[in-house]
Amino acid sequence: MALSKISTILLCFATSLITSISVAEENRVTLPNLDDLVHYTTVTRGEVTEHILTNQTTIDALQNGMPAPDGTHFVLADYRNGEIYRYFVMEKGEKWGEDYPAYRRTGDWQFQWFWGDGRINMDENTERCQSCHSSRESNEYTYTYRDLISFEH
Ligand code: HEC
Repeated sequence: MALSKISTILLCFATSLITSISVAEENRVTLPNLDDLVHYTTVTRGEVTEHILTNQTTIDALQNGMPAPDGTHFVLADYRNGEIYRYFVMEKGEKWGEDYPAYRRTGDWQFQWFWGDGRINMDENTERCQSCHSSRESNEYTYTYRDLISFEH
């Protein structure tokens, strides 16, 4: 009886430990100043309007068949009824992929969710972002790559 109680307690402890490890984390991604980026495409879905932005140097690189340089930001600025709701951000840095085990790595890109006031959403597990975007490996892990390639000022 006592033993099984102890093992139940241990099991709960282990489970909560595992959960806390896989829950959201701060990482290297920063929220950039949107004024420094170029808004190259817009995706709308119902009342949601997503402005998608990146650096001019990155647009130049990708349009010339070069990889995105380290320091690149991609931002998905999510507006609801004209008000900023949240920012989804991808940022690339030298060897940033090494922060993660190989199975979840997305090259040297890291992902983060910021609320409209700039706070990180600590309830989000950014492994989910990586898992979905990993299917876009050949397009710098982005979904709107084609829009960027055909973007003209
Ligand atoms: C289930 C798939 C899926 C998940 C999960 C997901 N994304 Fe995306 N993401 C997309 C799609 C699709 C787009 C293209 C825009 C659209 O259709 O809304 C996109 C666009 C983006 C963009 C703009 C650059 C690009 O890829 O075109 C950023 C930045 C981004 N997502 C970051 C994130 C972050 C950060 C998370 C996690 C908090 C996340 N995404 C989770 C599918 C996903």
